[in-house]
Amino acid sequence: MVSNNTSKEKRVYGRKYGRPLNASRKAALESVLPDVKIEDRHLTENGDIEPCILFDAGFDECWLEVGFGTGEHLSGLMQLHPQNAYIGAEPFVNGMSAFLKDIEDEPKERVRVHMDDAMMVANSLTENSLDGIYVLNPDPWHKKRHYKRRIISQDNLDCFARILKPQGQLIMSTDVPDLADWMVTQAMMHDAFEWEAKCADDWRVPPADWITTQYEVKGAKNAGRMVYLFFRRK
Ligand SMILES: C[S@@+](CC[C@H](N)C(=O)[O-])C[C@H]1O[C@@H](n2cnc3c(N)ncnc32)[C@H](O)[C@@H]1O
Repeated sequence: MVSNNTSKEKRVYGRKYGRPLNASRKAALESVLPDVKIEDRHLTENGDIEPCILFDAGFDECWLEVGFGTGEHLSGLMQLHPQNAYIGAEPFVNGMSAFLKDIEDEPKERVRVHMDDAMMVANSLTENSLDGIYVLNPDPWHKKRHYKRRIISQDNLDCFARILKPQGQLIMSTDVPDLADWMVTQAMMHDAFEWEAKCADDWRVPPADWITTQYEVKGAKNAGRMVYLFFRRK
């Protein structure tokens, strides 16, 4: 099902702006963003956008990263798998500009970004579009009354289940114990997903090719042990 969100609803709860950008990040935002941003006409939220129309080249797999922060994971993936296509969504301007500065001199035909709510992109994609989705260290929203702001919710999982191919992966991580419980419970409750973990090391130890994110290094408030949650669409 496609979201019935309207543009009047608040969709991003965290901050969109931080410190003023330095000159090189500002320049990257101005010069690179126009080439890689998903155009408004492709943000239909009608589930009718095939990923292939977003990119300037063919690709093997297509992945979405939700809330990429400063983008070191996304740029790492681009280098590791140059034949894959990547869509990144990050509303925080400072994070987006850091990522764009990083990829300034890289090939860009297989990367597209959206500087706003990731669900605008997700709701626009056709069913069975994606090979995988990363949600790494999402905002924890510690207070109970803010749980509804958490990006992993049944509504958003409905959308992820729709746009993932069968056997497509939903990969999540966090070092906030309560959020880890929440994400596992939400995904286990959802009919479309199954947890790949067979033993504790499967969620305690990252795979050998894991790319560490800035938040993984920094640690969240109330941080515990990092967990790596690999789910698959049934
Ligand atoms: C705690 S940070 C983690 C950043 C990065 N994934 C990492 O691990 O370093 C969470 C990120 O999610 C972004 N975010 C929050 N709501 C979002 C939304 N609706 N769509 C996309 N990104 C969102 C925030 O701007 C923030 O950069």
